[in-house]
Amino acid sequence: MGIEVEQLGPGFFAELRGVGLKDVAERDDAYALVRAAFEEHSVLLFRDQPVTDELQAAYSKRFGPLETAKAASLGEGTPYSILTNIDRATGGLVPPGHKEELRAKANQLWHTDSCFKIPPALASVLSARIVPPSGGETEFASTRLAWDRLPASLRVKLEHAYAWHDYAHSRGKIAPQLASEREKAAMPPVSWRMRWRNPENGRDALYIASHTFAIDSMTDDAAQALIAELTALATAEGHTYQHRWRAGDVIMWDNRAGLHRGRPWPADKPRHMVRTTITATDADGLAEMWPARAAA
Ligand code: OGA
Ligand code: MN
Repeated sequence: MGIEVEQLGPGFFAELRGVGLKDVAERDDAYALVRAAFEEHSVLLFRDQPVTDELQAAYSKRFGPLETAKAASLGEGTPYSILTNIDRATGGLVPPGHKEELRAKANQLWHTDSCFKIPPALASVLSARIVPPSGGETEFASTRLAWDRLPASLRVKLEHAYAWHDYAHSRGKIAPQLASEREKAAMPPVSWRMRWRNPENGRDALYIASHTFAIDSMTDDAAQALIAELTALATAEGHTYQHRWRAGDVIMWDNRAGLHRGRPWPADKPRHMVRTTITATDADGLAEMWPARAAA
């Protein structure tokens, strides 16, 4: 199979041409090529895909088991997380202050998906179904490249540090009651090592997000200051890549090695995206993320 890989971002993020979701779903050689590109570039873009929920799931399943959408989110209990401002009941747009609008705001904080879950996510696959005429981009940063930019002394410290992640923490930055009691009960805080090593290529990445609220043996204030500093370093100007969506675009990103955030768009324009999320396994380097848990 001849595929073309064009790197679009600063050291990561590549567009693939000559291969699509259907090829990966159906052919082992296509999967192997795309998997290798994923390990290398961290974020992959496919344009002009004839995307349906079923095709997206068939593609995603190649990479590992699929997550079930979380408690109380649209798509709960299915493999599809739906990010939309279209009200399913009326077909109109949700009013200002609606939960989906607040969720979109929370997604505009730099994060990696599902670090607040056990197990966390290897990758997310997001497809654009309806895009607004302006805004609504998604911006990416590499925490693998950020790791390499850290002072060596900090890398040594973070390698063996454990951080705590909580869905309610990031939601709380937008609105105090955004995470419901049911969501909080379903997703209590969890901790992971702050460095995720990719077993395929040995590359290390910093594992933090807007969900991160504490670090073992630090005060919460000091931990939050450090997380803010590390996020700023990872997402500094010149180190990010912003994707302007077209309907039919599909992007897969490595949640072990990056941060991403949504960008705002005019409230009177519809935007509808569907995400499938692939669960990390020990083959993806998960065992090292919590040795105590792996040994238990
Ligand atoms: C996501 C996400 C941002 C966006 O799907 O995980 O963060 O731009 N999306 O929709
Ligand atoms: Mn996300």
